[in-house]
Amino acid sequence: MTKLAAIFGAGQRVGKSVALQFLREGYQVAVVSRSGAKSLDEEAEKFKGSLRRYSADLGWAEDAVRVWNEIKKDFSTPISVVFYNAAANSSTDKFFDFQVSVDDLRRDQEINALSLFALAREAVRDFKGLPASVPKAFIYTGNGLDDPKAFPKTPPGLLTGAVGKHAAAHFIDAASQTFGAEGYKFYYIDERLADGAPAYGKITGPGHADMVWKLSQEPTQGDWRVSFINGKGKI
Ligand SMILES: NC(=O)c1ccc[n+]([C@@H]2O[C@H](COP(=O)([O-])OP(=O)(O)OC[C@H]3O[C@@H](n4cnc5c(N)ncnc54)[C@H](OP(=O)(O)O)[C@@H]3O)[C@@H](O)[C@H]2O)c1
Repeated sequence: MTKLAAIFGAGQRVGKSVALQFLREGYQVAVVSRSGAKSLDEEAEKFKGSLRRYSADLGWAEDAVRVWNEIKKDFSTPISVVFYNAAANSSTDKFFDFQVSVDDLRRDQEINALSLFALAREAVRDFKGLPASVPKAFIYTGNGLDDPKAFPKTPPGLLTGAVGKHAAAHFIDAASQTFGAEGYKFYYIDERLADGAPAYGKITGPGHADMVWKLSQEPTQGDWRVSFINGKGKI
């Protein structure tokens, strides 16, 4: 059976590496971003119909669901692996000086968490129609902002991002409890540096590709929150 992975928020670093990993493993892959995942132009040419690029703004949960349905229709098969990688943070250290509006916060929350929720509902509905032999997974790119050991204090300049990652972590935790036993795996993944510190701008495409691939193929749900180091794996 054709297996389909979809990457929501696919740019040149993490999204591209994850897309290439699944293509190499024989999956069909859909990549989504506002610009239509242009950084994968060359790969789309090379992998012909196996890789298709889509435009959507995950700042609108309705647009996320619209593109989900478009992907399913184009590939004529349900999505079995979802990787949600889009994120937003409008905060600055001047957050409370009214430089960030309520609308900014609302939009960031929609990108970081609400579109994830909308797509997780679609995924659960569609996973039910897939054979037991097809691995099913929904994986979200997190960071250490929900982990008080990594961030004992909320950095004001990362506030809207932190609020979103916290909300997303709760969604993933709850979904893993509800659906993990049915074989619908939900994970929140968080890359760290070699010393365990938050990766910030040093996150890696290959590290994420390796972790997303392995978690998606595992037979059962493990701990929903996975911190990992590139080249080393889970910590
Ligand atoms: N573990 C850590 O410490 C850590 C550190 C930094 C980042 N991160 C996480 O890593 C992820 C990003 O990694 P990356 O930058 O390497 O990924 P990437 O695949 O290179 O880029 C992500 C893509 O998401 C798309 N995107 C952003 N907002 C979107 C929206 N509203 N709708 C649709 N697409 C959207 C952007 O493309 P368009 O502009 O075309 O829309 C962007 O190119 C985020 O989830 C971030 O929170 C984790």
